[in-house]
Amino acid sequence: MSSADQPSASTPSRTIKIFDTTLRDGEQSPGASMNLAEKLEVAHALVDLGVDIIEAGFPIASPGDFESVREIANSVRGATVCGLARCNDGDIERAWEALKGAPSPRIHVFLATSSIHRQFKLKMTTDEIVQRAVAGVRKASSLCDDVEFSPEDAARTEHDFLCRVVEAAIDAGATTINIPDTVGYATPQEMYERIQLLLNRVPNIDKAIISAHCHDDLGLAVANSLAAVQGGAGQVECTINGIGERAGNCSLEEIVMALKTREDYYRCTTRINTQRLVPTSRLVSKVTSLEVQRNKAIVGRNAFAHESGIHQDGMLKERSTYEIMRPEDVGLTKTDLVLGKHSGRAALSDRARALGYQLTGEQLQTVFEKFKILADKKKEVYDGDIVALIQEQISGQVQQAWALVSFDVVAGSGKQPSVRLTLKHGEKEYTEEATQGDGPIDAAFWAVEKITGYKVLCKDFRVRSATLGRDALGEVTVEIEYNGIAHRGVGLSTDTVEATILAMLNAINRIASMPETTGVRLKPQ
Ligand code: KIV
Ligand code: ZN
Repeated sequence: MSSADQPSASTPSRTIKIFDTTLRDGEQSPGASMNLAEKLEVAHALVDLGVDIIEAGFPIASPGDFESVREIANSVRGATVCGLARCNDGDIERAWEALKGAPSPRIHVFLATSSIHRQFKLKMTTDEIVQRAVAGVRKASSLCDDVEFSPEDAARTEHDFLCRVVEAAIDAGATTINIPDTVGYATPQEMYERIQLLLNRVPNIDKAIISAHCHDDLGLAVANSLAAVQGGAGQVECTINGIGERAGNCSLEEIVMALKTREDYYRCTTRINTQRLVPTSRLVSKVTSLEVQRNKAIVGRNAFAHESGIHQDGMLKERSTYEIMRPEDVGLTKTDLVLGKHSGRAALSDRARALGYQLTGEQLQTVFEKFKILADKKKEVYDGDIVALIQEQISGQVQQAWALVSFDVVAGSGKQPSVRLTLKHGEKEYTEEATQGDGPIDAAFWAVEKITGYKVLCKDFRVRSATLGRDALGEVTVEIEYNGIAHRGVGLSTDTVEATILAMLNAINRIASMPETTGVRLKPQ
């Protein structure tokens, strides 16, 4: 890349097609397989997100893959549905069988072209590769107007041979030429040059869109895809949360937000509704059970969390000091100023105000000193902890509004779980039974909500062993949200259900002791 190639501010933006392969390459992540209902849910979420093409699977791979591609093709509207096939009639016919119900189907055929794959995997000569690629593309084009061809391991394929195969594939009817960096070996400069090579050397290249498909083995998938776009690619292949074979694929949310945030530089846009990025990421994480790392760009829990005092102070004065994207643009409601040991007085005072407390200078000083001691002990200080500190300062102790008297649990194989719970509020006792929920813990949540009247959202639930041995004490930590404010509660018991009830009550008592200004009220019945 040279600066001479850089588009100027007056260059009109190009629209880059987003080809999502979460359901095909993403599903190849070890442990990420999804069932049919989950794949359909993801496919519909991808349409809402605004992707242009959904690669729904590899129909020949298994009857389950075939069925899910067919179901997605028959039910999804608003995006092209694509199925993968090797360059042979059986694969291509099976792919077409699955795809033919889609209003906009695409067959994606691939064949390895690098010398290492030709020699060791396929044991084919260059002429044989060209013939096989042409036959595959012809067959696919005889069934479907929209055909993508991928020379697998293109990033390690000799330049002349790559140009030869690509030209032959376009002549045979390919409308998209995808350039995979199958093993994540390329550098951004190489990827850029490879796309430029095709644009400059393949005579019929104007008849196809060039695409990039980059793997993340060296952590360069997004950078390489961006370089391909700079080189002239009109489509990028990516996955939600960057899941995929080995280290994964180019992450959809990262490339989309890079193009959007730096449109001034790349002069490119996409059709993605970026506010759907976080919800889609959470859905894919849920159905694949692949957790998103906390510091993952765009969709990680810490992506918009500022802890350092200097950063928080800057953010409170002017958010652009430390934020290059607005959290609401990716589907988060607000920036999270996580209070921790690096936070300063300004952030604490601001949070106290948001929680409904107007502290005098003296009160703030005392609360701040206690906050620093607490923050030294714990990684994150939650709103509920701050409320507790302020309450302690203003009126002595956090009011223990609700206390556990007793509980009974019914649970077991084939049984509907239920919890009968008695709580005390002041001198009065209240008993309720909850028979809903997925298990005894869930039933305990329902029972506490029923008695206290606080309908809360459980944002986090963690159990850890606080001591050693079979009779270990279990520590349950819950993070619940009420009126948009997160409160933490901790409960300790050798019985996990009891520890859960105690943790819930701990959090609810914090809510109950908040001032009226937040709209939260104590609810004795
Ligand atoms: O990584 C790769 O080469 C692929 C092809 C099938 C496009 O996933
Ligand atoms: Zn791949």
